[in-house]
Amino acid sequence: MIERLKELRVEAVAAFEGASSASELEEARVRYLGRKSELNQASRGLGKLPEDERRAAGRAVNEIKQELSALLEAAAERLAGGAGGGAGEPDLTLPGRLPWVGRKHPITRTLERLETIFATLGFEVATGPHIEDDFHNFEALNIPADHPARDMHDTFYIEGDKLLRTHTSPVQIRTMQSRKPPIRIIAPGRVYRNETPDASHGSEFYQLEGLYIDKGVRFGELMGVLQKFLGELYGQEVVVRFRPGFFPFTEPSTEVDIECRICRGEGCGVCKNTGWVELLGAGMVDPRVFEAVGYDPDVYTGYAFGLGIDRIAMMMSGVSDIRLYHENDLRFLRQV
Ligand code: PHE
Repeated sequence: MIERLKELRVEAVAAFEGASSASELEEARVRYLGRKSELNQASRGLGKLPEDERRAAGRAVNEIKQELSALLEAAAERLAGGAGGGAGEPDLTLPGRLPWVGRKHPITRTLERLETIFATLGFEVATGPHIEDDFHNFEALNIPADHPARDMHDTFYIEGDKLLRTHTSPVQIRTMQSRKPPIRIIAPGRVYRNETPDASHGSEFYQLEGLYIDKGVRFGELMGVLQKFLGELYGQEVVVRFRPGFFPFTEPSTEVDIECRICRGEGCGVCKNTGWVELLGAGMVDPRVFEAVGYDPDVYTGYAFGLGIDRIAMMMSGVSDIRLYHENDLRFLRQV
């Protein structure tokens, strides 16, 4: 019997070492170590052997089993590690996985671009509270409590005269109250309105407003600075249109449009077939505003303008729904 075991061992070693695929190895395992293998039968038949033979045969069976098990394991490892083999192997030809790198929100990137342009035009950045009072958000801006202009600026009222600011104009009031001219600031930030959200309105959005006050500031300077700003933003060939408008805090006031970038003025869905897209409101600071902050309107003049940052971002990347910017959906944010 020992002789037969030795032969078996030689055969099994050759089969394990020679296996060139996982299935060949599995076949060899069943043949030499499986439940019905000769080795297993020998091991089960040990009890029938005479006492003196049993001990030596038992030891031989165990040694071979251990040796073959080790060889089987080594062969399995060899096949898994090598090229062109069985299932579950890593595919080394796949491209690597890039780590997720965070980046700034598209509104933040647009804001920073605008800030950079206005910095080169001599404007510094001013900020103020989001929870405002009635005076800074409305009264000082020549929007009295009974004035229909308040309808356009419905907001979220807190206690007493506290409310969420509807524009960043109160920052301009606060700056005028705390400083003397000349003043040349932009006031960017989040603003709030009680709007029913749709593709072009949100109850929160971002504005950037500008203010320049000094002796002898004229409307032509306002036109010049906005033309320059839009040229920096969209390229010098941009076509700008100044259209009469109304704001309680500026007089005269203007709406500033650019020729539609999508259809080049032909008329399309984006410009609602007008060929123009409204980008800014602007005008000369109303004397009533100067009175509210204690400036002499006979000494100082100035201009102000305001734009929606979300809208600029939408125009630049062709996004058609403002709500996408405020939903925090990474599938969207990683594209724009
Ligand atoms: N504050 C205005 C608004 O939110 C924007 C604006 C600012 C218009 C300055 C004209 C001048 O509607």
